[in-house]
Amino acid sequence: MSDPTAGGLENLLSEDRRFPPSAEFVAQANATADLYAWANADRPAFWAEQARELISWSTPFEQTLDWSQAPVARWFADGTLNAAYNAVDRHVEAGRGDRVALHFEGEAGDTRTITYADLQREVSKTANALASLGVGTGDRVAIYLPLIPEAVFTMLACARIGAPHSVVFGGFSAEALHSRILDAEAKVVVTADGGFRRGAPSALKPAVDEALDKGAPSVQHVLVVQRTQQEVSWTEGRDVWWSDVVDPASDQHTPVDVEAEHPLFILYTSGTTGKPKGIFHTTGGYLTQAAYTHLNVFDLKPETDVYWCTADIGWITGHTYVVYGPLVNGATQVIYEGTPDTPHRGRWWEIIAKYGVTILYTAPTAIRTCMKWGEEIPAQFDLSSLRVLGSVGEPINPEAWMWYRRVIGGDKAPIVDTWWQTETGAIMISPLPGVTETKPGSAQVPLPGVAADVVDDEAHSVPNGSGGYLVLTEPWPAMLRGIWGDQQRYKDTYWSRFQNLYFAGDGAKKDDDGDIWLLGRVDDVMNVSGHRLSTTEIESALVSHPWVAEAAVVGANDETTGQAVVAFVILRGDAGASQTPADEVQAELRNHVAKEIGPIAKPRQVLVVQELPKTRSGKIMRRLLRDVAEHRQVGDATTLADSSVMDLIAQGLSTPQSD
Ligand code: WT7
Repeated sequence: MSDPTAGGLENLLSEDRRFPPSAEFVAQANATADLYAWANADRPAFWAEQARELISWSTPFEQTLDWSQAPVARWFADGTLNAAYNAVDRHVEAGRGDRVALHFEGEAGDTRTITYADLQREVSKTANALASLGVGTGDRVAIYLPLIPEAVFTMLACARIGAPHSVVFGGFSAEALHSRILDAEAKVVVTADGGFRRGAPSALKPAVDEALDKGAPSVQHVLVVQRTQQEVSWTEGRDVWWSDVVDPASDQHTPVDVEAEHPLFILYTSGTTGKPKGIFHTTGGYLTQAAYTHLNVFDLKPETDVYWCTADIGWITGHTYVVYGPLVNGATQVIYEGTPDTPHRGRWWEIIAKYGVTILYTAPTAIRTCMKWGEEIPAQFDLSSLRVLGSVGEPINPEAWMWYRRVIGGDKAPIVDTWWQTETGAIMISPLPGVTETKPGSAQVPLPGVAADVVDDEAHSVPNGSGGYLVLTEPWPAMLRGIWGDQQRYKDTYWSRFQNLYFAGDGAKKDDDGDIWLLGRVDDVMNVSGHRLSTTEIESALVSHPWVAEAAVVGANDETTGQAVVAFVILRGDAGASQTPADEVQAELRNHVAKEIGPIAKPRQVLVVQELPKTRSGKIMRRLLRDVAEHRQVGDATTLADSSVMDLIAQGLSTPQSD
């Protein structure tokens, strides 16, 4: 584990800019400062109140929190409800059926406006179609779709039936999809012929075919949305077109009441070992915290706001802050299929002006990319509708924070830097707009109802001004209930580092005011463009190539993506690599990783070396490789088995490459 207190702290400590909320904002804010004291006085009672207030229950709960089987929590366990009913039907029943739920913007410029009444019909049809394909309560459905309305319909249709969904990001490879289908034993896979990416159709169905060709006995049907009209290959009996089963299905469907602890979804995320973890979330607690945080952190006014979270539904942000949080709150939101630079670099700002977006939630990497493109681009669009700006996925550096505030937020919209994880299910640490005086670069304070701390190696809370490890000290409603099929791994990963404390895997520090600053991962997990990648998983992908004998991967600082993947490989002497020019070897290996895992895992550089730095016990010293990758003086190498290795690496480095 690396030292979270090393380096970088001086810069953070010298940050003394402060942005108090404006009087106008305070006057209309949803959140008030007394929430903290109320929640602190009785945390479970506070959450029970939110659950009753924000969620519609079929059977009201009496029990709030059962922590007797820690670390597996049970929240509101004797209550029953349906997530899709909460996200859709109840708004229609309350006379809000005409409100727009989704403004869909396709990359090619096609649009679709979907009201809550439309959504109810679409989700019901999809639920009936899934049921006709054999999906029942408790069955798992894998979803491998672009960000199109059908993705939202399918997630909610699963929730309606009580069939946990497992969304797999459309950018992941056939291999990654295969392992996720197997682990969850999915009965049906929902996909599309393709989606639009950077101005061209990009295929999805072939990856599903390839994944299923590897063997997936649980899968009975593949439901295919026509999006791009690309040719697809077809397996009779297994594959069905969306237009053949969903379009003609009845638009009446009764949501299935499930217990509060019924699994709502599984979402895979990278850990420190090669095998991704199936994080699973249940229904009542998750929805409660999703709705509560969405309402208070973004100050949502459902009647007037137009909300836009730019995340894909393949990530937890898309689950909680595109699908469940906003829809449970009856919000109007934008969803956009494509990239920010298609067909031009002003596309996002054009969308904001077009729909009058008032709340924007995005990632630091996107903000830094826009900074690089230049502020004259957003300046061409009317962004004056924006009133709250959110950031998520990685620490936001103060320069990017200031740019976001000034250029996008017109120097007035409060910024909420929200820390959370796939595992936490919903936002945990964030300023509250209208309450918190914000500081560029800091996520600052645990939300009301959330208990977090920064501790040292011995689990002692560190004093203000010191660094350590971020932990969560009390159970929270949206917490993961485990790792699908592997509860031991759940305990080992999150609950063994410190007794009775949830270990998040992040380094953090408390400043003199006690505000929390996140410092990045302290384990072998990288964060590239706000996406979590495992060093071990990429190393496994590299050594699966016949040319590679050994590989070590590190995350190196990158101006735009936060971190970038840099791989060090030792080639096998006997393999084809020796006859191949160095730059072709590197290109081949970079593409191999993209193919095995997905383009987001493609190394920025592959460096061919003769040796890797190892301790006497054989552990690769990634810290030294990171020094090389970040062009620093190599640090203390005295624990190396062979101390000349670093000299060899430094001398023999090939030219860096990147595209
Ligand atoms: C990891 C979780 C939560 C949705 C997106 C990522 C990092 C996340 C912040 C933030 C500093 C952050 C942490 C965390 N992270 N938000 N505001 N400031 N770091 O979800 O893939 O589960 O990754 O992202 O390192 O552990 P994820």
